[in-house]
Amino acid sequence: MKSKVILNRHYRIGEVDERIYGGFIEHLGRAVYEGIYQPEHPCADGDGFRTDVLELIRELGTPLTRYPGGNFVSGYNWEDGVGPREQRPVRLDLAWKALEPNTFGTDEFMTWCRKAGTAPMMAVNLGTRGPADAQRLVEYCNFPGGTALSDQRRANGSPEPYGVKLWCLGNEMDGVWQTGHCPAEEYGRRAQEAAKMMKWTDPSIELVVCGSSSDGMPTFGAWENAVLEETYELADYLSIHKYFGNPHDQTPGYLSLPEAMSDFIIRTLALCDAVGARKKSAKKIMLSFDEWNVWFHSRGTEKNSPEWTAARPLLEDIYNMEDALLVGMLMMTLLDHADRVKVACIAQSVNVIAPIMTEKNGKAWKQTIFHPFALTAKYGRGSVLRAVVDSPCYDAEFGVPATARRKISSLRTTSVYNAERGEVVVFAVNRDLSAEMELEVRLEDFVPERVAEWKELRHDDLKAVNSAESEPVAPTDRRDAALDGDTLQLRLRPASWNMIRVKVQ
Ligand code: AHR
Repeated sequence: MKSKVILNRHYRIGEVDERIYGGFIEHLGRAVYEGIYQPEHPCADGDGFRTDVLELIRELGTPLTRYPGGNFVSGYNWEDGVGPREQRPVRLDLAWKALEPNTFGTDEFMTWCRKAGTAPMMAVNLGTRGPADAQRLVEYCNFPGGTALSDQRRANGSPEPYGVKLWCLGNEMDGVWQTGHCPAEEYGRRAQEAAKMMKWTDPSIELVVCGSSSDGMPTFGAWENAVLEETYELADYLSIHKYFGNPHDQTPGYLSLPEAMSDFIIRTLALCDAVGARKKSAKKIMLSFDEWNVWFHSRGTEKNSPEWTAARPLLEDIYNMEDALLVGMLMMTLLDHADRVKVACIAQSVNVIAPIMTEKNGKAWKQTIFHPFALTAKYGRGSVLRAVVDSPCYDAEFGVPATARRKISSLRTTSVYNAERGEVVVFAVNRDLSAEMELEVRLEDFVPERVAEWKELRHDDLKAVNSAESEPVAPTDRRDAALDGDTLQLRLRPASWNMIRVKVQ
């Protein structure tokens, strides 16, 4: 099987915004408690943060972290999580039927972000609360001092404002499962007032308004229309969410899901631009794909853990090799839309549908999906190149549940030119499950010097998983790529994810 790719130095899709490599920490299951925060753990630091997790977060390379939810935020009183710990109330978390001890809150999150080398992306509660409470949180975080709320922050140990730049106006407000869910027009009005007051408090902030919580929602389209009608000039980004799975064990169809992610992005942008056109606005709304990942392995297992307890294991998907292939390709899809997708968050970062897992009394370890994420986040920087791809195709049932059959290219590839590092980075997955692929990548108008690195992620067993005991799914180095003039030549093994860095002049 042969595939060819042509890249040209001058043909570019857009610049990569590093915020597409964001993570997400929600008060959900063991993400916060036993995940990032566990004062009694042997490797906890003076703030109670697990240093093993901090190290892995830095290696994962998420420059942005969304917090505190998710569904959780829509019933959250942020005031419960600040001030002296012994005075903080224990509350019911209706979203996840759990107890919230509030021993970790906004100030702890800001400190954790600083240590983890990530910027906070805060969500406000527009479910059970409203614009005034959202404004108060911006004032608490970002106003320098001299008001009751900013002085409260100072008294709580942070004399300098946090300068949180990016704010979500609620979470998945289109979903009936959301505490305080409401019709689009009502949410649009609520978000508009919150946006006004938040930006009046700190004009430097950027806002993300809720789009659809998946393209399968019956309100998809109508929701975006109504919400953007109210918020178009105030919002900077529209949020979209989508989770992927292989519940019927149809691997070829599963591996075609990056195309479904791409369709969702394209359709949502059409909806945004239609509102902009109607309003004759010069402004373009960008996308914040602030929840995406594989989520299906753990579905239904919530029943096994007792309700109304704190930090009970929830959504602890254990990922296999084929999930890592998919995650790698979903990241390529985000890169392919670099011109309009400016923010994205893998959901989530630790323990809850996450690349990093922890044992309560033991170690932290890397899931299979950790690797394509970390390598793409590290090397997928610069300008995304517009590729011409010629590859054999296969017929796949498209979407889960399957909605149609579609021809899917066996090669999934995206390339980035990093002028600063002087390299072209080719990401490539051979989606064929049994045949090797001979691949040629022509680097037009580049002067290639050498192949600096080729990382391959594969395993004979697509269902292989990592665990605290062993991590059999991990990248290895390959050295058999060749350069012939301006053409890179290599053979991709079946069902493998690859990253090739070519030094160019
Ligand atoms: O990430 C898990 C949950 O999925 C989030 O809380 C919610 O926003 C989404 O439905």
